[in-house]
Amino acid sequence: MNAIARKTRKGRTTKKTAESSQKIARRSSVSYPRPKPKTQPDSFYPAYVATRTRAPSKPLIVLPHTLSELTGPVFGHESIAESDRDLTRQHAGEPLGERIIVSGRVLDSNGRPVAHTLIEIWQANAAGRYAHQNDAHAAPLDLNFTGGGRTLTDSGGNYRFITIKPGAYPWKNHPNAWRPAHIHFSLFGTAFATRLVTQMYFPGDPLMAHDPIWHSIPNELARQRLISNFDLATTRPDWALGFRFDIILRGRDATPFERQR
Ligand SMILES: [Fe+2]
Repeated sequence: MNAIARKTRKGRTTKKTAESSQKIARRSSVSYPRPKPKTQPDSFYPAYVATRTRAPSKPLIVLPHTLSELTGPVFGHESIAESDRDLTRQHAGEPLGERIIVSGRVLDSNGRPVAHTLIEIWQANAAGRYAHQNDAHAAPLDLNFTGGGRTLTDSGGNYRFITIKPGAYPWKNHPNAWRPAHIHFSLFGTAFATRLVTQMYFPGDPLMAHDPIWHSIPNELARQRLISNFDLATTRPDWALGFRFDIILRGRDATPFERQR
């Protein structure tokens, strides 16, 4: 038997067989899988200036949810009207801009549909202005467009909104900063405490390359999941273009969500 000799601290010689050293060699040559690329943004991303002050500076403390947080009713399920999911029918007239249909599915990490979950959206109007007192963008308001909608997924996890394509708008993050056109999405799960928030973008938008919020997502594949797909099957002829935006709540293919602060 081959043997390797070595000295102990007391000077005695011990033997280690070649067999065991081969085991060690085999063990050291094992290739461990690399950590999976992150799909979710970090709280602190310096290029996204607001994260410099609002990212936690100390380790987070886990606060267990209360029973009512986990089992209480999710707000708003009972009072959803048809006009809630058609943002072009919430006022006396039609809003200005390009009418679009946004539809998709909400799925869990195994690709199973998430049924009867509440989706809320909010967005700027076609000129890039929010109907909100804090929006000072020098663009016109549209009295026929508020920019808020909500709906429930059906039993197959499907949802559908009719709205107006939002315009880009300037923000103060850096000189000449403009947000790409986007729609904010909020998803309520089975409880209020499980709310997730993300943004949907449009394909081919040149502002994506300059948007630090989009770039704060560290993985290219994950970033791409936030860009909707133009879809002729969703498009309604002579009436509205259609975009598909599927949302995956968890797992390797999860949609990037904004950090809960
Ligand atoms: Fe926005």
